[in-house]
Amino acid sequence: MDKIIIRGGKPLYGSVSISGAKNAALPILAATLLVPGTHTLNNVPDLRDTRTMLKLLETLGATHKREGSTVSIDTTGLTGAEAPYELVKTMRASVLVLGPLLGRSGYARVSLPGGCAIGARPINYHLKGFEQLGVQTTLAQGYVEARCSGRLEGATVYFDMSTVTGTENLLMASVLAKGTTIIKNAAREPEVGNLIDMLVAMGADIQGRDSDRLTITGVDSLQPAEIDIIPDRIETGTYLIAVAATGGEVRIEKCNPAHLPALSEKLRAAGATVIEEGDAFVVSCPEHQGRSRCNLQGVDVKTLVYPGFPTDLQAQFMALLIQAEGTSIIHETIFENRFMHVAEMQRLGADITIDGASAVVRGIPPEQLCGAPVMATDLRASASLVIAGLACSGVTEISRIYHLERGYENMVEKLQALGADVEKIASSGS
Ligand code: EPU
Repeated sequence: MDKIIIRGGKPLYGSVSISGAKNAALPILAATLLVPGTHTLNNVPDLRDTRTMLKLLETLGATHKREGSTVSIDTTGLTGAEAPYELVKTMRASVLVLGPLLGRSGYARVSLPGGCAIGARPINYHLKGFEQLGVQTTLAQGYVEARCSGRLEGATVYFDMSTVTGTENLLMASVLAKGTTIIKNAAREPEVGNLIDMLVAMGADIQGRDSDRLTITGVDSLQPAEIDIIPDRIETGTYLIAVAATGGEVRIEKCNPAHLPALSEKLRAAGATVIEEGDAFVVSCPEHQGRSRCNLQGVDVKTLVYPGFPTDLQAQFMALLIQAEGTSIIHETIFENRFMHVAEMQRLGADITIDGASAVVRGIPPEQLCGAPVMATDLRASASLVIAGLACSGVTEISRIYHLERGYENMVEKLQALGADVEKIASSGS
């Protein structure tokens, strides 16, 4: 298995460019299924997950071509309507083909994703929403079969919990439905807004972008479209935290600072300098008593839906707090099992206690944290271990890095360019 080796304790300097957002590219790739023709997506990150989604589209009969970060997808001749277990088990976001397939042809068969390293993550709200649009759903042999005779019918759908992919699935199912659909308590994440922009470019009628109430007036037909994928706010946040945790000064380019209001405030409260300059962040930690990193202060964090603090940055922020002065409390409200990184950070010497949905982090000086072999358990946990490894002294060896490759484009190369002592070791077996 491939590994990442980090020799920590070196501050980061220079500039890094942010890639397109994984969680915007995935639903937008799925949305191309809605209408036959060739769609053009710019700024698509080349990641394990985007490749999985393209493979899924291929199994449904679509073809694609990538030139740099532009992907053109021809969805003219669809030959299937099934997302098989083999693909869904490697990427839950495969369920995003349900909505567009239902919208286009009234039928889809998708494997149920099952459990996941960060929580149970059911899709009951997606299915309930489809049913309200007139879709019949049945479960057999681990697959959800969804069908509707004729066009879907607009309805009012209220989500008990704000769900990102649930909102996206319902949006895609309803744009071609008969009549008006209202989604209440819709997710407001920027990735939902990017999908709405794609659907509107295709000819959809959607009101309420960026609000929790979306009104979709069904149209009779759509046409292929072109869209720019927004910058990845979670990748941006990961580099912001990495610089604050290791010290140095980095310009983070091609990002959208407006998408990270909660993180930039928390970083400032912890003692980092975070400046927004158009489509860039400049983040630094000043020299302190001869050390290259600042004296970080502990802060409390509660994960919330957008624009609150993102759950996808909780693990990375913990990697900063383990070396901050004082005690911090991290409260995870989105997923019930998103502290898998804690046991790995404890191997580096971190002082963390979990109490239900909260983690109590007692900061210790970075020079007392020491590298060790650790194991990545999911995508964001992996990123947090990279940050912890960069910040502490000694050598950290991270295994199971395929998780990291699902969501971070060229992370090792980007960190090397910032001066980090990090390398990927390919095992002889892979
Ligand atoms: N939920 C249900 N039933 C549903 C849907 C959601 O109980 O039918 C619960 C979930 O179990 C969770 C909460 O509602 O407790 C919110 O989950 P949500 O549906 O919003 O998450 P998601 O759509 O499955 C997306 C991202 C995740 C990100 C979450 C929260 C994509 C492809 N994935 O997942 O990204 O953590 O929203 O912001 O957009 C990642 O990139 O590492 C990642 C996990």
